[in-house]
Amino acid sequence: MKILVVNGPKLNQLGTRKPEIYGHLTLQEVESALKEEFGKDHEVDFFQSDFECGLVEKIRSFKGDILIINGGALSHHSVSLLKALRAVESYKVEVHISNVFQREEFRHKSAIASACNAYLTGFGTNGYLLAIKGAILNLTNNK
Ligand code: DQA
Repeated sequence: MKILVVNGPKLNQLGTRKPEIYGHLTLQEVESALKEEFGKDHEVDFFQSDFECGLVEKIRSFKGDILIINGGALSHHSVSLLKALRAVESYKVEVHISNVFQREEFRHKSAIASACNAYLTGFGTNGYLLAIKGAILNLTNNK
């Protein structure tokens, strides 16, 4: 399957930004672990941007099976991300590393969840792996 993992603003600072919340792995380490786990059987592409328009362009041009999105802070208010996700036919999972419901109230709302098939929060960086596994299982079992 063709899988795209999209990360929004500041997620390139993983490993150094608030490690007590986001853990110690860098985004590169997360990417390597996912490619190690899924790369043999699937095509896994990674993309990070701090810019909403860059994220929108990448999402809109994706023609594949599974799209994992951690929009960072944009997840909570970006109508542009919502519309871009709506336009994509893939199986989509919104992921948050931290448990957003244990944090400030503005993080409890998602602007993009309604465009996704599933929502995963609070599993740390393992959430990316779980999201891809869940999507693969659902796409292969629910046919
Ligand atoms: C986050 C949660 C967001 O509220 C925050 O702005 C982030 C990271 C997470 O993965 O837990 O940048 O998306």
